Amino acid sequence: MRLPPICQRYPVILAVIAQVCGAFIVGQVATPDLPALWLGLHGAIAAAITVALGGSRWWIPFQMLIPFAIQAGLAWNLPGWVWLVCLVVIVLFYGGGVVTRVPLYLSNQAACQALVELLGDRPSPRAVDLGAGFGGPMRHLAQTLPGGFFVSVEASPMTCLGAWLLARGFPRRLRVRWADLWSEHLGVYDLVYVFLSPEPMPRIWAKVQAEMRPGTLLVSNTFPVPGEIPERVIDLPGRADARLYVYRR
Ligand SMILES: C[S@@+](CC[C@H](N)C(=O)[O-])C[C@H]1O[C@@H](n2cnc3c(N)ncnc32)[C@H](O)[C@@H]1O
Repeated sequence: MRLPPICQRYPVILAVIAQVCGAFIVGQVATPDLPALWLGLHGAIAAAITVALGGSRWWIPFQMLIPFAIQAGLAWNLPGWVWLVCLVVIVLFYGGGVVTRVPLYLSNQAACQALVELLGDRPSPRAVDLGAGFGGPMRHLAQTLPGGFFVSVEASPMTCLGAWLLARGFPRRLRVRWADLWSEHLGVYDLVYVFLSPEPMPRIWAKVQAEMRPGTLLVSNTFPVPGEIPERVIDLPGRADARLYVYRR
């Protein structure tokens, strides 16, 4: 099933709708005295609806926990600062996506392996992941292509810290930068990888055109560049719309 564009752009709307459906199906909201079984059922239904409607699997634990969190908030009568701390933690993990409206969801192994194959014939490939999350794609390239140089650029502080810690094993070949992706100059790269949202794609393409060398590649997971015909489309396992769009500069 294809989601309405508003839910594709703001997955949180899908999550809220799924929570409301969960409460409706269970017939109860997370009141302080509701048994854990009902809360678990509510969360499981919300998670199932989210994934069935095309939401990322990363929503599953959040959707499962939300009824318990609401109940805890009601039962313990939490002070205002607790909610403030929650907000700060969310910003630390998701803040990078506020401007570009890009949430955190991660590339799967098949996507990472496809990048290896796209770069495989270059003796010392250079690639960058703009909006790198925990840095999985570039870490995979650093592991698989020892002659290369790879950069992960991530704006959310805690996510970037996670990527940086995970990159410790590859000190010279893998860099993690805490930065806005728009500040990264693309002139040195053979391949630029993005997994963002429809929103920034026209600007990403303009940046590629302005900065990348002819013959180099832009690879976008899931979100095509509007109005441009990709050189290749690589289907990925998982979501129905999961594919890599490969554009040659
Ligand atoms: C969908 S995740 C993709 C993670 C990773 N590229 C992967 O494929 O596994 C997108 C990431 O981009 C980050 N992001 C969004 N806007 C950004 C920006 N302007 N600069 C840097 N990172 C950004 C978000 O914080 C999020 O971690």
